[in-house]
Amino acid sequence: MTDDDGELEARLAEGESFEPPASFVEQANAADPAIYEEFEENWPECWEQAADLIDWYEDYDEVLDESNAPFYEWFVNGKTNASYNCLDRHLEDRGDEIALQWVGEPVDEADRAFTYEELHKEVNEFAAGLRDLGVEADDVVTMYMPMVPELAIALLACARIGAPHSVVFAGFSADALATRMNAAESEYLLTCDGYYRRGDPLDHFSKANNGLSGVDHDVSTIVVDRLGDDGFGHDLSDDQTAYADLIAENEGATVEPVERDAEDMLFLMYTSGTTGKPKGVKHTTGGYLSWAAWTAQNVLDIKPEDTYFCSADIGWITGHSYIVYGPLALGTTTMMYEGTPDYPDKDRLWEIIEEYEATQLYTAPTAIRAFMKWGRSYPDKHDLSSLRLLGTVGEPINPRAWKWYYTHIGDEECPIVDTWWQTETGGMIVTTLPGLKTMKPGSAGPPLPGVDVRVVNVAGEEVDPGQAGYLTVHKPWPGMLRTLYNNDERFIKEYWQEYSDPEADEWVYFPEDGAKIDDNGYITVLGRVDDVINVSGHRLGTMEIESAIVGVEGVAEAAVVGGSHDIKGEAVYAYVITEEGYEENEELRQRIIDGVNEAIGPIAKPESVVFTPELPKTRSGKIMRRLLENIANGEELGNTSTLRNPDVVEDIQARAQNS
Ligand code: WT7
Repeated sequence: MTDDDGELEARLAEGESFEPPASFVEQANAADPAIYEEFEENWPECWEQAADLIDWYEDYDEVLDESNAPFYEWFVNGKTNASYNCLDRHLEDRGDEIALQWVGEPVDEADRAFTYEELHKEVNEFAAGLRDLGVEADDVVTMYMPMVPELAIALLACARIGAPHSVVFAGFSADALATRMNAAESEYLLTCDGYYRRGDPLDHFSKANNGLSGVDHDVSTIVVDRLGDDGFGHDLSDDQTAYADLIAENEGATVEPVERDAEDMLFLMYTSGTTGKPKGVKHTTGGYLSWAAWTAQNVLDIKPEDTYFCSADIGWITGHSYIVYGPLALGTTTMMYEGTPDYPDKDRLWEIIEEYEATQLYTAPTAIRAFMKWGRSYPDKHDLSSLRLLGTVGEPINPRAWKWYYTHIGDEECPIVDTWWQTETGGMIVTTLPGLKTMKPGSAGPPLPGVDVRVVNVAGEEVDPGQAGYLTVHKPWPGMLRTLYNNDERFIKEYWQEYSDPEADEWVYFPEDGAKIDDNGYITVLGRVDDVINVSGHRLGTMEIESAIVGVEGVAEAAVVGGSHDIKGEAVYAYVITEEGYEENEELRQRIIDGVNEAIGPIAKPESVVFTPELPKTRSGKIMRRLLENIANGEELGNTSTLRNPDVVEDIQARAQNS
């Protein structure tokens, strides 16, 4: 590595591409270039290859049933269990190998490792404990947990007894927890006393209890003691049980994994959409697990002897698919880190990778941009030569950040997979197979084999290479969501209405992303085309944030847009009209920021709040968000001639500059 990156920079500017390093190609899991053609010719039977990665109690009769599209069914009548596939079947060969390597935030605390044997034991005990509390198959169990091993254990315990889990990101607010528990009618909650953030214990239990007070039915809660003596001395109420007691009471218990139909729900995951209410994305047992395992094997190149590190949080889909289910189904060692990358210093990830000789790193562009800003001296202090593959997910990665990652983390020896997917897709959809495909920085790559992704215009016709259009998926895939929980109608409306032709029984999935495609079929994702903001790779609905802001006393109306941000990718910009009699002042601005924090969580906090007497509106009264985006980005204003109140825009622009 040299400081002179001039040559690489020039190649990037020309849009030059990179071949997978030879040392990687030699050993890649996906090694046969014929796979693309074979999967196309042999679709949907090609996906038997994914189903073959897991064990089935009963074989499926049919790979795909399309008769009730878009309610597709995969691996019809097959019976399996995700917990069995992630644990029991590895015991004989890999029982003493490490399944889960956990690293806590405090550096002076011992890390915790669970062998497959040990993880199996605790999952069984907790599954027995859940049954003691009355949890039965199909009861939704909510988890509101930081990155501690008990979260992974709980996922697998639920899967074992056929109880779908619904994980709510620990950084979300109490209100967000209540909304999700009410929507899922979830009567069980796993939470904890707290966790560490930048060296300090943080009280999580009070937040969970505040959330519970907003749940409209009885809830039985299990509480993990994470902080020990650093805890806040909370007492448990009658409907709250200590996790440790539940485990102790079930010491040595075994719970037979229940046979689940391939189409039975494995979990729910709430995600943001255009309208206010979060959507409960439903994933199934057979299709989802096969997809997580197949993509983990072929894209992340996971092998059982690897030590694989994904720095995401299990509170998001990335952690579900690529910390827990995919890696464990393949019998590898998966890592889990509690803290942030810059505590106690900005080399913490590199220290962890060096110590455990991690073989893959899967992270987000927002993190890479932060690493870049901190400088190469941090990774340079550590031996990162154990790394074989790098991955990114969550948002587009700009070529400069790609280059930095390739050079300073991968030492030009590791392919980078830029993986495009969503909560709804269950796993990766568009990315390069790392041993087979040329890498083009900034472009996610071609669709995976057997996946039919196209870029179309508003009329649904494919656009020419280089033209911007909409990303669409034209064939179903095993990992896809099956519906939105209790809301088939919204499922159709949100994802299938735009480009499908129901009369011709032609179904096209619309993920609400813009994209362009090049002559070689490589897709560059341009970002969301709906009212969803992607902050640090996390999806937030503008409507959710707006309703939090108008809930603040003194606010009459609000509009929220995403504006570009160096590290976060996008940040939240709010434009607010005050109510008669309220002053536009710092105090109100702070209450607005606090209101968003309370309703959603710190990630949704506005970067800037601009007060304005009016919002730019069309004659029909619709807010022109595009113009507000121009202002947030400091860009030249777009066309204002269709506005009812064109003068207001320049006024807002001036106010934004002064705020
Ligand atoms: C949205 C999905 C997939 C797990 C994390 C986010 C954006 C995701 C990429 C990528 C460009 C990407 C899209 C997508 N996105 N990966 N590699 N390149 N954009 O899951 O919260 O469901 O968000 O993230 O806009 O629709 P999510």
